[in-house]
Formats: sequence, structure tokens, C-alpha cells
Amino acid sequence: MNAPKHVAIILDGNGRWARSKGLPRNYGHIQGAKNVEKMCEITYNLGIQYFTVYAFSTENWLRPKDEVEAIMNLLRNYLKNCIKRAQKNNMCVKVLGDLSKLDEDLKSQIFELEKATKDNKGLHFQVAINYGSRDEILRAVKKIIEDTETKKIRKDGLNEELFSSYLDTKGIPDPDLLIRTSGEQRISNYLLWQLAYTELYFTNVAWPDFGEEELKEAIEVYNNRDRRYGAVKED
Ligand code: IPE
Ligand code: IPE
Ligand code: MG
Repeated sequence: MNAPKHVAIILDGNGRWARSKGLPRNYGHIQGAKNVEKMCEITYNLGIQYFTVYAFSTENWLRPKDEVEAIMNLLRNYLKNCIKRAQKNNMCVKVLGDLSKLDEDLKSQIFELEKATKDNKGLHFQVAINYGSRDEILRAVKKIIEDTETKKIRKDGLNEELFSSYLDTKGIPDPDLLIRTSGEQRISNYLLWQLAYTELYFTNVAWPDFGEEELKEAIEVYNNRDRRYGAVKED
């Protein structure tokens, strides 16, 4: 099995998974967060170097206030544990998204986590929080305009590589494989620029049930894809 270098996941279906068991949606989020922890280890053991998960979108603020609060509290706990785990397993953690809208304590927790793990050489783990790809692109464009005005960069020098360096994913290679769990076949404002040539994989399995076997199956499908990047491959 040839592991993709970068796997991105839209972890979907926590709520439906819990409801199907007659349990509150928030229970699904708790199990979903536990699964993220487990999958960090599994991905790394399979040889994946970059793992990017979508935890909370810019649109998820539209959910009921108590669900948003519960998710934010889960993220608080999750990030607190993450700093300990990252030091143990040498994981480098980055948070993608517009952090300015998050509570102060969460922001400083993220700052500490990124600072403490930045030189770690194990799994590169990215969590997208208050992330929306359109928002990310707009923030990049605004910063580019600013840097052109202050003459830090020149319009003529702007190319795809330089543009990429203005995105939250600066320095991270584009995903090779995108997995979305729980049946929906859409991108929901995730990594629109970065997914330009990514292989897409959709499964009906809900995120809390997605484990090593399911990931191996996705990688097997990925291994059978022919990535041409617009070119022709002679047979
Ligand atoms: C994914 O599960 C987690 C978040 C978006 C925060 P959902 O909460 O979207 O679960 P479903 O799709 O409603 O079942
Ligand atoms: C996408 O899932 C966002 C995250 C996984 C954080 P949603 O459940 O919010 O997406 P839609 O609403 O089904 O498109
Ligand atoms: Mg959903």
C-alpha cells in the first residue's frame, strides 16, 4: 500500500450518528473528537505525513447556540490534551481558519500549542477551526493588496506559489486524498484552492465509526486512481 503524503478529511455525520442511536447530537461530537485522536496515530503509522481535519466551518455558527458552545468546549479540551500528546508523539500541530473570532482563551491555547509543537518532526496535523475556504482566500487577497501597497511584493511577482504562501496552509503540500464521511458528496467550503488536483473519496460511514479499516480501503481506492494533472499518460 502506497500511502498518500497528505490526507484531508471532512469529518461529517457526528450528529446523525448520535441521533440514530437515540442520543443527543453533542454525544456524537464527543465520540467524533475521540476518533480524531485515534486517527492521528493510525494515519501516522500508515505512513501519512500530513493530516488535515475540518472541525468547525465559518458556516457552523448558524447552528443552535448550545451546539456551538458544546463544540467550542470540546475544542478547548481537545487542544489542552493535544499539547501533551503532541510532545509525546512528536506531532506538529497547526490551526487553520480565522482565529480572530474565537474566544481569547482558545486563541492563546492555540498560540501555545503551535509554538510548543512547531519543530516537531512527526505527523503534521492541521485542524480547521472557524475555517471557510472563501474566507481564507479573501483574507489572502487583502493581505496581498496590503503588501503590494507597502511595496513588500510586486504585482508582477505574484504567481501560484506566492499566492499559496498567503493561505493558512502556507508550507503544507496540497492534499493528495480528500475523504468525506457520512454520505454527503460536497466540499462545504473546504480547501477550495488546495484541492485543485486532489483525489476525492466519499463514504457512507459516519465519522465516529471511521477507523483503520475504512482508511485503508480509501487508500486502496486512491492507489488505483490515475493522477494525470491534465496531461496524457502513454500506455
Ligand atoms: C461534523 O458532524 C462535525 C461538525 C460539522 C462540527 P455534523 O455535526 O455535521 O453531523 P451531521 O452531519 O449533522 O450528522
Ligand atoms: C462541514 O460539515 C464542516 C465540518 C465538517 C466542520 P457540515 O455538516 O457543516 O456541512 P454541510 O452543512 O452538510 O454542507
Ligand atoms: Mg454535517
